[in-house]
Amino acid sequence: MIVLLDQRRLPAEEVELLCTDVPALVEAIRTLAVRGAPLLGIAGAYGVALAAARGFDVEEAAGLLAGARPTAVNLAYGVRRAARAYEEALKNGADGVRAAAVALAEARALHREDAEASARMAAHGLTHLEELLPGGGYRVLTHCNTGALVSGGGGTAFAVAAAAHGAGQLRRLWVDETRPLLQGARLTAYEAARAGMAYTLLTDNAAGSLFAAGEVDAVLIGADRIAADGSVANKVGSYPLAVLARYHHVPFIVVAPTTTVDLGTLEGAAIEVEQRPGHEVTEFSAPAVAGVTAEPGAGAPAAPLGTQAYNPAFDVTPPELVTAVVTENGVVSPVTRTGLAELCAGQGKG
Ligand code: MRU
Repeated sequence: MIVLLDQRRLPAEEVELLCTDVPALVEAIRTLAVRGAPLLGIAGAYGVALAAARGFDVEEAAGLLAGARPTAVNLAYGVRRAARAYEEALKNGADGVRAAAVALAEARALHREDAEASARMAAHGLTHLEELLPGGGYRVLTHCNTGALVSGGGGTAFAVAAAAHGAGQLRRLWVDETRPLLQGARLTAYEAARAGMAYTLLTDNAAGSLFAAGEVDAVLIGADRIAADGSVANKVGSYPLAVLARYHHVPFIVVAPTTTVDLGTLEGAAIEVEQRPGHEVTEFSAPAVAGVTAEPGAGAPAAPLGTQAYNPAFDVTPPELVTAVVTENGVVSPVTRTGLAELCAGQGKG
């Protein structure tokens, strides 16, 4: 069984969600009970181990899990790692029980590696901030949710903000609410409050006036997939922040483990962006209130009945707008194909 903290219910309630089979985990992934790129990879790997332990068809389970959401490359990566470990164990003569234990060990290894990567990203990210903006006292704007909720450790962009906070250098964390599913308001504000940070929530469309007022020193965001050319897919609303940051001469820093870099995706245009149901936009149905699974009509109407909505879950920021990509292996700035590939060397990716 896989036990998850149900992120749909935060911040109102801290409730565990028990997934006893792969379809339940796939539903948890689709409805964002479990979400965020690194955690999706870990959950996918544990899902394969669960299928193996239960004697389900592991290949079929791997296909279902990897296909649950298309953009975060970590999901397919985590699933593939555990499935390969399982298959190799069988090839080497292990029985099903032993091979399932090998898949579980692989999931645990990925979980552990992600925690280690978080700590290293936090250190590299803070050093990079200090180099760019000597003197500390940073006012950092972030989008979506990138803390411990999405990781085996402290997370990605949020981990860098937390490191700055720990070093007494974070003056303020500006938290974009992140429409339509409010990952910023519900989850990042929850994590910032728990960490004792000075933070302020803003609607996504208030970011422009915040930049114009000179209140943002740096943008720190995570990523769901980074293509070989350095294009960054992240929560919808990230690209407009990158444009604003460039106009206002503010560094736009992407923090992600190398498991998020997909050298097999050559450029941003090749990244599949998940399109989500329109009712997430046309109705106010904060997950904590109505549940992301809610059918159309379950939330309070925000638009006339029958209104069509454009609801991409992610957008893609071109590399020329990205000041730096911070990974556990170091920082690439400016962002180039060669620089990224060098950071990912030895990862068996591409
Ligand atoms: O749709 P979500 O909530 O899974 O989107 C998550 C994000 O866009 C995060 O910013 C991204 O996964 C990076 S998390 C380290």
